[in-house]
Amino acid sequence: MFLAILQEVKMKKSTPKSILITGGAGFIGSHVVRRFVNSYPYYHTYNLDALTYAGNLENLKDVQEARNYSFVKGDIVDTDFINHLFSQTKFDGVIHLAAESHVDRSISNPLSFVRANVLGTVNLLNASLSAAKDNPSFKFYHISTDEVYGTLGDTGLFTEMTPYSPNSPYSASKASSDHFVRAYGETYDLPFVISNCSNNYGPNHFPEKLIPLFINNIINNRPLPVYGDGNYTRDWLYVKDHAEAIDLIFHKGKNGETYNIGGFNEWKNIDLTKLLCRLMDKKLNRMKGTSEKLITFVKDRPGHDLRYAIDASKINRELGWKPSVTFEEGLERTIDWYLDNQEWLDHVTSGDYTLYYQKQYQP
Ligand code: NAD
Ligand code: TYD
Repeated sequence: MFLAILQEVKMKKSTPKSILITGGAGFIGSHVVRRFVNSYPYYHTYNLDALTYAGNLENLKDVQEARNYSFVKGDIVDTDFINHLFSQTKFDGVIHLAAESHVDRSISNPLSFVRANVLGTVNLLNASLSAAKDNPSFKFYHISTDEVYGTLGDTGLFTEMTPYSPNSPYSASKASSDHFVRAYGETYDLPFVISNCSNNYGPNHFPEKLIPLFINNIINNRPLPVYGDGNYTRDWLYVKDHAEAIDLIFHKGKNGETYNIGGFNEWKNIDLTKLLCRLMDKKLNRMKGTSEKLITFVKDRPGHDLRYAIDASKINRELGWKPSVTFEEGLERTIDWYLDNQEWLDHVTSGDYTLYYQKQYQP
C-alpha cells in the first residue's frame, strides 16, 4: 500500500497532468471520464459539461468522490467562462466531446448545432492557444464522427482519405468543427488530433438514438418507429471500445493526424431491430414474436444517409487498437444494463425533451 502511494506520488511529480474532458456527463464522455479517473490516478481529470438534456451526473456517480476528479458546470459557448476556466487551471490537454449529437434534433433546430458544435469548439480552440504557448506537450483532441464523410453506397468503406461530404446539419456542424481544429493546427501550430468514429452503443446512452430508444420502447410496449424501409446500414461499436481508442489516441496518436474508429460490425436497421426484439423477448420472458409486433414503419428521415462503414485499419496498424467486445456480448451487456437501470431511464426521460419521431415521422 505504502509503496503504491509512493509510486503514485513519484509519477505525480514527474508527469502532473490536468486533463479537461468536455461533455463528460454525456454518453461517450462519461465512459471516457471514468476510464481516465480510474486509469490515471496521477492525472487530474476535469469534466466540463453544461448538463443539457443529454448530460447526466448520475452517469458518473461511481467516480464523483475521487480526489483526482472535478466536475465543472458550464457552457463551452460562453467565451468569458471558458477564458476564466483556462486562466484558473493550466490544462495539459483537452479531450473535446461536448456537442449536440442527435441528427433528428439537428434537422429541426440546426442553429443549436452551429452554436454548440462550431462556436463552442472555436471558443475552446482559442483558449487552448494560450495554454499551448506555455506548454509544449499540450494537445487538443477533437472527438468526431464518421458522418462527416457523408454516405456510402452498397460497397466501400470510409478511410481517413475520404473527402468530407456531410448531409445532415449535425454532420455539417461536426465537419465544420473538424475543419476549424485542423485550421488552428496549420495556422497557429496548435497540436491536435482528430478521430472519426462510427455509431456507438452501450450503457448510459440517452434513449432517443436507435438502440436505447428501441430497448426502452420494448420494455414499455411502445411502437418501434423504423424510418423508411429500414434498409439503412450503420457500423456499431461498443462504447467502452471507443473509450479505449480515445485513451490510446490521446496518448499515442501523432500530432496533426486523423484516426477512423469503427466496429467492423455493419447492420441494417431492420435486421438490428428484429435482433433486439428477439433478445428482449427472451430477457423479458415474453412469447417469441411479441416485440416484433411493435415494429412500425414511419416516414423517412430527410437526407437519410444510406450506409456508414469504417475502415479502421490505420488505428489498428499504428496504435494496435481493435474492438474487444463482440456485438453479441455488447448488446447483451447493454440490454442487461437498461433492464437493471430503469430508474435511470425514467429519470432521464422525465425532463423537458421530446421524442422527435412523434412530431416528425408519423407512420
Ligand atoms: P451526448 O449527446 O450523449 O452527450 C453530449 C454531452 O455534451 C452532454 O453531456 C451535454 O450536456 C454536453 N454538452 C452539449 N452542449 C454543450 C455545451 N454547449 N457546453 C458544454 N457541454 C455541452 O453525446 P455522445 O453520444 O456522448 O457524443 C459525444 C461526442 O462524440 C460528440 O462530439 C459526438 O459528435 C461524438 N460522436 C458520437 C457518436 C455516437 O454514436 N454517439 C459517434 C461518433 C462520434
Ligand atoms: P441514430 O441512432 O439516430 O444514429 P445516426 O442517425 O447518427 O446514425 O440512428 C441510427 C439509424 O437508425 C439511422 O439510420 C436512423 C434510424 N432510426 C430509426 O429508424 N428510427 C428511430 O427512431 C431512430 C432514432 C433512428
